Amino acid sequence: MFVAALLASAVAAPAPAAFGQACAALQGRAFGDLVVTGASEVVAGPAPAPVLMSPNGGAPAVRPPLPAHCLVTADIARRTGADGQPYAIKIELRVPADWNGRFLYQGGGGMNGVVMTALGEPTPSGSREPPALARGFAVVSTDSGHQAANPADSRFAKDQQAKLDYGYAAIGKVTAGSKLLIGELTGRAPAKSYFMGCSNGGREALIAAQRYPTEFDGVIAANPAFELSRAAILSTYSANIFAAAAAHRQTDASRLLTPADGALLQKAILAQCDDLDGAKDGMIFGACRFDIRKITCKGKESEGCLAPDKAEAVEKAFRGPRDRDGKAVVGSWPYDASQFSQGWRIWQTGMPTPNGGAFTLLRDLVTNSLSDYFAFPTLKRPVATDDVAPLLKAVAATAAYTDADATDFRTFEARGGKLILVTGGSDPIFSAPQLEAWYGKMSSDMQGATGRPAADFARLFVVPGMEHCGGGAGLDDFDPLSSLVAWTDGKPAPDLFVAKGQAFPGVTRPICAWPAAARYDGKGPVQDAGSFQCKAPKAE
Ligand code: BEZ
Repeated sequence: MFVAALLASAVAAPAPAAFGQACAALQGRAFGDLVVTGASEVVAGPAPAPVLMSPNGGAPAVRPPLPAHCLVTADIARRTGADGQPYAIKIELRVPADWNGRFLYQGGGGMNGVVMTALGEPTPSGSREPPALARGFAVVSTDSGHQAANPADSRFAKDQQAKLDYGYAAIGKVTAGSKLLIGELTGRAPAKSYFMGCSNGGREALIAAQRYPTEFDGVIAANPAFELSRAAILSTYSANIFAAAAAHRQTDASRLLTPADGALLQKAILAQCDDLDGAKDGMIFGACRFDIRKITCKGKESEGCLAPDKAEAVEKAFRGPRDRDGKAVVGSWPYDASQFSQGWRIWQTGMPTPNGGAFTLLRDLVTNSLSDYFAFPTLKRPVATDDVAPLLKAVAATAAYTDADATDFRTFEARGGKLILVTGGSDPIFSAPQLEAWYGKMSSDMQGATGRPAADFARLFVVPGMEHCGGGAGLDDFDPLSSLVAWTDGKPAPDLFVAKGQAFPGVTRPICAWPAAARYDGKGPVQDAGSFQCKAPKAE
């Protein structure tokens, strides 16, 4: 349906003066099941403030002026759901008058349900580079098929089609609809198409490369919720362990670890692991084997050590559920510099509020909203047991179309597609070692399937100390999008990003393509990326 309309629209581009008219002419038009609900030219001017999904998303990007562009809103596939509610896939598409020929699909966040401003904000969120729209890209954003009060609202889970759209299907429909509208407006199809998203948007980015490989040339998947079903179980497991330990002390999870406990843990993690990379600089480049016993109180609970019940809860939560052979079943948490920070608490235990309550919205997004979505209410009850087999069975049906953990990228790779994965070493919801393990498996599967190194088309970058999509004690100011564009244009693949960030003013570091990590040369100025080299870890 969309393809025929797109071909029919391949006419000459409108003259610049006619751009506003061509834009307004889209108003009210219908193309199959796509209905344009708004179309008007936006004059060049300041960008609206960014809308961040999470309060620990780091610093807002620089706000450069946006170019004159056509703003189109549309509904795709309007229908009434199984719950009697109206549904549609709502989109917002912005196409610059001086379009650079590139199209960017902006990923969503949480459970979606809200159409965010289609600017193509760079990821990580600490990046000071301009949004994609200001660089000349056409950008689309979407609610992915249901309308919600906020991105933690999971009521759409009553309707199967809305779940399919959230899980994967909206990506195909939005991509086709956007390309059609761009063709109508400009008379051209995009020369190159990209997907960039973080968290759930990172999951969607991987789905785009895995299931819509002919539609995208380049993809950035940041802090991807790629194993959403397992991540929900792992997070619920650790949240419940903290809640159970807190209940023994007749308090709530947000008050189990005091600020002094958090500071003690962070200091101890750095004391044991900061110099793995040769520099004591507050960033751990490498895997930290933290021994919590070194700070556990031997006798009575006292200042300067961690009470045994708290240490036990931390250790158990971080190990994650294990099978009889001691193997992690749904992942584990790494000990990194920003764990136990405010950003970590928001997701893992909730944050205590001054009125004696706790802010748990983001923790609940994982423990409640995802259990609605995976149609498994048991996740809402304590899941502190290591036997998670029944949970995995229960989430399997929804996981089959939602999880983005496939390792087959043959079509994407064969067409020259490029994939950049970025994550935070301290991400408190989507564990970095999980992503590393998947990347390792994907690399060997793809090498086996194609005979070519996976690093020729896909690279992973792990930012020590960075939390969820940015923020934390890490360097989250760098620009994967420029590197991706260069890579898809035939320039060399990025071996590293030179990162800076507000957490460490005046400091730069190479963020190396995993499994390599930065190592200090022992001589140069420790604040300079140039004094570090990317080195592969030593085989153990
Ligand atoms: C997110 O997009 O940030 C998100 C999605 C699902 C669960 C938790 C976080």
